[in-house]
Amino acid sequence: QRSYSVGSTFDFNAHLFPLSASANDPLYLSLDPTTTRGPSFQNLEKQKSITYFNGLSLVVGLQIGSGIFSSPAQVNSSAGSPGAALLIWLLSGILAWTGASSYIELGGAIPLSGGAQAYLQHIFGDLPAFLFAWVAIMVMRPGSSAIISIIAGEYLGSVFWGALAEDSDPPPQVAVKALALLCLWGITILNCLSTKAGTRAGDVFLMIKLVSLIAITVIGIVVAVTGFSVKDGGPSNEWKTGNWFKGSSRDPGAYAVALYAGLWAFDGWDNVNYITGEMKNPSRDLPRVIHSAMPLVIVCYLLANISYFFVLPSSVIASSTTVAVRFGTTVFGSVGGILFALAVSISCVGALNATTFTSGRLVYVAGKQGYLPKLFGKLGVRFSRSSGRAGGEDQGATLKVPIFGTAYTRTPIYAMLLNAVLTSFFTVIGSFEALVAFYGVAGYSFYFLTVLGLIVLRYREPDLPRPYRCWIITPIVFCCVSLFLVSRGVFGAPIQTAGVVVFVLIGVVVFWVRVGPPKSLKRLGGKLRFWKKGRKEEGWSAVGEAR
Ligand code: ARG
Repeated sequence: QRSYSVGSTFDFNAHLFPLSASANDPLYLSLDPTTTRGPSFQNLEKQKSITYFNGLSLVVGLQIGSGIFSSPAQVNSSAGSPGAALLIWLLSGILAWTGASSYIELGGAIPLSGGAQAYLQHIFGDLPAFLFAWVAIMVMRPGSSAIISIIAGEYLGSVFWGALAEDSDPPPQVAVKALALLCLWGITILNCLSTKAGTRAGDVFLMIKLVSLIAITVIGIVVAVTGFSVKDGGPSNEWKTGNWFKGSSRDPGAYAVALYAGLWAFDGWDNVNYITGEMKNPSRDLPRVIHSAMPLVIVCYLLANISYFFVLPSSVIASSTTVAVRFGTTVFGSVGGILFALAVSISCVGALNATTFTSGRLVYVAGKQGYLPKLFGKLGVRFSRSSGRAGGEDQGATLKVPIFGTAYTRTPIYAMLLNAVLTSFFTVIGSFEALVAFYGVAGYSFYFLTVLGLIVLRYREPDLPRPYRCWIITPIVFCCVSLFLVSRGVFGAPIQTAGVVVFVLIGVVVFWVRVGPPKSLKRLGGKLRFWKKGRKEEGWSAVGEAR
């Protein structure tokens, strides 16, 4: 059994060993890939506790968040007609599925925790992996969590401020952000206290979300079938009489906007890849998780959208950013509005729970890799009631929760706290639109690079064991679409794009400081030296590979 010491004598290269081992390497083959390949999760991996249902709950729990309850407006107003909007929803789901399928292949071939960080490191080396970790940890994960918590805060705020009717004043921004922070820290503390508490809560949130979506579907069908008369405009009946494709937009740019809104609602399909190393049986369960989560979510979203059309006129759907609440008030009056607003905020809190769980682990892996200070790669704290002393003694230290007396837990506390602090920062200062645009450009750039890596890996290491192989068209389609989305983002949001570029450049500097000059530069340096000396023994490859 190979073990990795993480401590003061941190050797970055030793940690990279398993990743550079090739399939022909006897050591590599003799190791059980699911337990010993990789530096990540020295302790967490040993727990190997993630089952199929936990994985499913992490993926579906993050996917169903804010999008299905608030994106329909954007999809509808851009697509122009109910039929076109439904097609966009279907298309977004299938595209997300192509990305997720590509990630299954990667997760099977490189069964490490950390998601794209592990894949990029194996395929393209340390610098791209570091840059992904850097951007994901500092901006993408906390930024997207901030978006979700702000939406949770808005819905909760409108319940407390009695501001559910479309024409009433929205709750004050301070209140929205305070509620957002409350949700965020509640979820973070829960997950710090116990992994089980986090996953259990996730399951409960997921049930509530699924029940809400089923309720929307059933209510829609009842309204459609019985012609049940409702106040506030009543069922549109538009779906009976109208042509579902009348008014469809002819502008490709509008479809890009719609697609982007749809993809946000399906985003989160890579959530389980962050913890593949912790799964009991990744090569069996990873495909099962994705291939059950994706159709489930696609069907739920399509049914919910059809239901919206049964109850509300499409012009209302296109102009209301709180479709679900509008749906509730239309059918049941203000009580319905309150119930649906609560359901949406619970859905967002559930997504926050699912993303907090994996963000914590992403930071933790980066801490272990040496990308971040090693404190972040530690588990738990020892807190004893008698001495009242708290400290991160060693990474095996447990957190003893005084009120529960005998509850001992191990969670990546420092990692989750870093994530929560950054998320709070974005929640407080971030403008919603800026966060969404930044997330789009950065997120799809890395999705593109990672899935491109799958294609590269097929050529470079054809014999690498791949428990799951996707159809080669799948990554190609996904790459084309993500490239298209990134290019739209670049032109649509030049300022945020510049922000992404600057942030990545800062990342290069940080990499240099923490890890050393990037290999390509070292190789170049070595080459120059080689030319100067003109001696083969000191050739560049020896210098370049020395590290
Ligand atoms: N699909 C989620 C929603 O509708 C958003 C997921 C954001 N992605 C993430 N990795 N946090 O709210």
